Amino acid sequence: PVNLRGRSLLTLKDFTPQEIKYLLDLARDLKNKKRAGIKGNLLEGKNIVLLFEKTSTRTRCAFEVAALDEGAHVTFLGSSDSQMGKKESIEDTAKVLGRYYDGIEFRGFKQETVEELAKHAGVPVWNGLTDMYHPTQILADFLTIMEHVNKPLNKVKFVYVGDARNNMGNSLMIGAAKMGMDFVALAPKSLWPSEKLVSEMREVAKETGASITLTEDINIVKGADVIYTDVWVSMGEEDQFEERIKLLKPYQVNMDMIKKTENENVIFMHCLPSFHDTETKIGKEIYEKFGLKEMEVTDEVFRSKHSVVFDEAENRMHTIKAVMVATIGNI
Ligand code: CP
Ligand code: NVA
Repeated sequence: PVNLRGRSLLTLKDFTPQEIKYLLDLARDLKNKKRAGIKGNLLEGKNIVLLFEKTSTRTRCAFEVAALDEGAHVTFLGSSDSQMGKKESIEDTAKVLGRYYDGIEFRGFKQETVEELAKHAGVPVWNGLTDMYHPTQILADFLTIMEHVNKPLNKVKFVYVGDARNNMGNSLMIGAAKMGMDFVALAPKSLWPSEKLVSEMREVAKETGASITLTEDINIVKGADVIYTDVWVSMGEEDQFEERIKLLKPYQVNMDMIKKTENENVIFMHCLPSFHDTETKIGKEIYEKFGLKEMEVTDEVFRSKHSVVFDEAENRMHTIKAVMVATIGNI
């Protein structure tokens, strides 16, 4: 039997396929419970702190709502709210917070920071996104695939298009390798995941029956069950728009690409937020500067019947709840 009590979630590399499956099943149960209007108490008496160096809508709100649904209390600390990294080391901050809280969520730049917190806190630490990984997002993504694709995960052809070297590219490849999926990174070669991570995941794939393909050839989308993309420029890389637009323009997810899958049931996924129209401040500036209308995905695809992006966003909450319940909950 799987027991995740006391465990941190820093990257899915540390989790077995059985453990990932357990979290997904638990998330589905918790989602059904919430839908049925049953109030939870699995986190009653627990205190949780959320540390954010970068901005967030989904991750922060998902943690807060998930915690409150199950009776926990939450403290939010934004980038200028604590002493950490300025007057106080990560080690000392972790030791202090570990005395007050039962669990710590961290979102920020360096993967080393979340690892250092976990090393010293004495309580579970959950990675809410670093430059390297975004593990809680992958759980939401896989739950969404289970709900929308009529196949077990290990039969799914999953194509990730765009910046395959970023936190999403890395984490989706890890998750796919663990769950035995056919994973494709469709990207210009300079944006493929690092050779080190690819060879590590190919080792995992040998055991799970997964396959990992890196390619620049758009025809690879034929037969895809899932087309997934992310922003071309991640948080903290805002000086790279020009170069990324040049590199990634041919990899935009548009109706031509969807048609190339030859699968009328293909689903479109995106962790969000995404650049698909002109309603946002950053979007507007970038579109004007570079003469674009949209970036990684067209508005047409984003709003099409293929798109499951808002189910995916909802599932952040249910899967994050599962992570907290499994690691610190009263079960
Ligand atoms: N997908 C995701 O992590 O969204 P936020 O940046 O809004 O948390
Ligand atoms: N790659 C994106 C993901 C946002 C959820 C970023 O890091 O900004």
